[in-house]
Amino acid sequence: MNDQMKSEKYKLLFVCLGNICRSPTAEGIMIDLVKKAGLEHQIQIDSAGTYGGHAGELPDSRMRQHASRRGYNLISRSRQVKPMDFEEFDLILAMDDKNYQNLRDLAPDIESMNKVHRMVEFCQNSTLDYVPDPYYGGAEGFELVLDLLEDACEGLLNDVKQKL
Ligand code: 4NP
Repeated sequence: MNDQMKSEKYKLLFVCLGNICRSPTAEGIMIDLVKKAGLEHQIQIDSAGTYGGHAGELPDSRMRQHASRRGYNLISRSRQVKPMDFEEFDLILAMDDKNYQNLRDLAPDIESMNKVHRMVEFCQNSTLDYVPDPYYGGAEGFELVLDLLEDACEGLLNDVKQKL
């Protein structure tokens, strides 16, 4: 693919704390939805964490197991958010308020700051105001992450379609 085609893509970055549970799941769900919609040449998807302590790791094995039961194969490798992300991506989706605030604090200018949104803004059914961190909890937490992110990703795709 040449640079011109690349730059025409709408670029989404999902962000949580460790980039091993919530944001790689959002990435996996969104990749699946975008493929089903035949929009993979127009939308680029990535994920990252505000904390870099899990860099290079696959998503958490519990998260992968719950996701695979719904047909999502999570294979991304964790990485930390970097300054270039604010330039490269069009929309940066934070999983919770802490991620949101950390991202806004990291943003180098107002334009970058305005790219940061809460993922739950795009939910169509759920009224929860953040995607809870499932890392220290049980199975229900991982299922809730999947429920919320399936809902939000559908809403997000509807929104992004208007911008293509
Ligand atoms: P995530 O979950 O932010 O959804 O990837 C977590 C992963 C790791 C840690 C916390 C949350 N941790 O403390 O290492």
